[in-house]
Amino acid sequence: MERQNLYAKKIVRPEDCALTVKSGNLEVLSTPTVLAWMEEVSADLARQFLNDNETTVGVHVELDHLAPAFVGDNVEVKTFLEKRGKKKLIFSAEATKNDVVIAKATHIRVIVNKGMFSK
Ligand SMILES: CC(C)(COP(=O)(O)OP(=O)(O)OC[C@H]1O[C@@H](n2cnc3c(N)ncnc32)[C@H](O)[C@@H]1OP(=O)(O)O)[C@@H](O)C(=O)NCCC(=O)NCCS
Repeated sequence: MERQNLYAKKIVRPEDCALTVKSGNLEVLSTPTVLAWMEEVSADLARQFLNDNETTVGVHVELDHLAPAFVGDNVEVKTFLEKRGKKKLIFSAEATKNDVVIAKATHIRVIVNKGMFSK
């Protein structure tokens, strides 16, 4: 059976770049932004397993940023559900530009009660 997956298409904007995010000083897609995109798509894929009072939070990430992307570039972010436990969801994710992998990651999310995460 094919692994469950989901993808999103993004266009790199100036606010996505290291210069603005302050994770570097170049106008290239920042590592935190590409990670945020991977988390966004993984959280969307996880939604089908949740009750109304539940959400997921990211607890672990291991990411390789392999090639740059520039303002205006189209980036496709795809995530695969590799393993689902009772509370733990393990994803692999990749970001590609023109079918070339520019970042890849392993990401773990945990299902939590929304109440646990409000002050
Ligand atoms: C999510 C959180 C409540 C989990 O707490 P916890 O006491 O570890 O909870 P549990 O022990 O029930 O863990 C649930 C599962 O996740 C796994 N897990 C938790 N943290 C992990 C990590 N960093 N890496 C790998 N697995 C992890 C546990 O091993 C357990 O797996 P199992 O079900 O196979 O045994 C806690 O780690 C937390 O609050 N983290 C902060 C998350 C956050 O704020 N993220 C940013 C917002 S999105």
